Amino acid sequence: MARLLTVAVVLLAGVKGLMATDPEGPSFTVEPPSFADFSNNTGIRLPCAAQGSPSAEVSWMYMDGTRITSVVRLRHVHPNGTLVLLPFRAEDYRQDVHATIYKCRASNQVGVIVSRPVRLRAGKNLRRFIHVWLCDAKLRFVYIFFPPHFTSFKIANLLLLLMEN
Ligand SMILES: *[C@@H]1O[C@H](CO)[C@@H](O)[C@H](O)[C@H]1NC(C)=O
Ligand SMILES: *[C@@H]1O[C@H](CO)[C@@H](O)[C@H](O)[C@H]1NC(C)=O
Repeated sequence: MARLLTVAVVLLAGVKGLMATDPEGPSFTVEPPSFADFSNNTGIRLPCAAQGSPSAEVSWMYMDGTRITSVVRLRHVHPNGTLVLLPFRAEDYRQDVHATIYKCRASNQVGVIVSRPVRLRAGKNLRRFIHVWLCDAKLRFVYIFFPPHFTSFKIANLLLLLMEN
């Protein structure tokens, strides 16, 4: 009887162990923002992380699904999933690196998920504005960067556009 019980316990433990490693499709634990404006002096880090079982592999791609790679001195895909745009000199500006739309992708054997598009814009000598508004009785704010030639009329229009999105 005691032996039978042991067998039952071992069996149960086995089933529980199997359940703990049940395959599970990836889900984002950190999803990157929809907009990212940054200055060439600072660069920017776009975080992305996902969980799953087996653990999810995170990569970055363009809108058409092309996987992106690191570009020396400009763009680095960190193994932890963060996409790093490094500070850069004006002459190193590249539209396909600094002014494009990226998406983060997470995959494992069970499935693939893709993040919202991240619209990236870099500028040199950008003026920084802080835009504050009230939402759900809480103050929210966002930093917005503008090139120096932007007039306040253009800025007002851009703000409206941002808020409509
Ligand atoms: C991932 O790596 C980047 C670049 O080194 C770092 O800034 C960031 O904090 C790391 N994120 C996590 C979640 O470890
Ligand atoms: C950013 O661009 C400005 C203007 O071209 C330049 O003076 C500055 O050195 C650049 N920053 C870096 C980190 O190269």
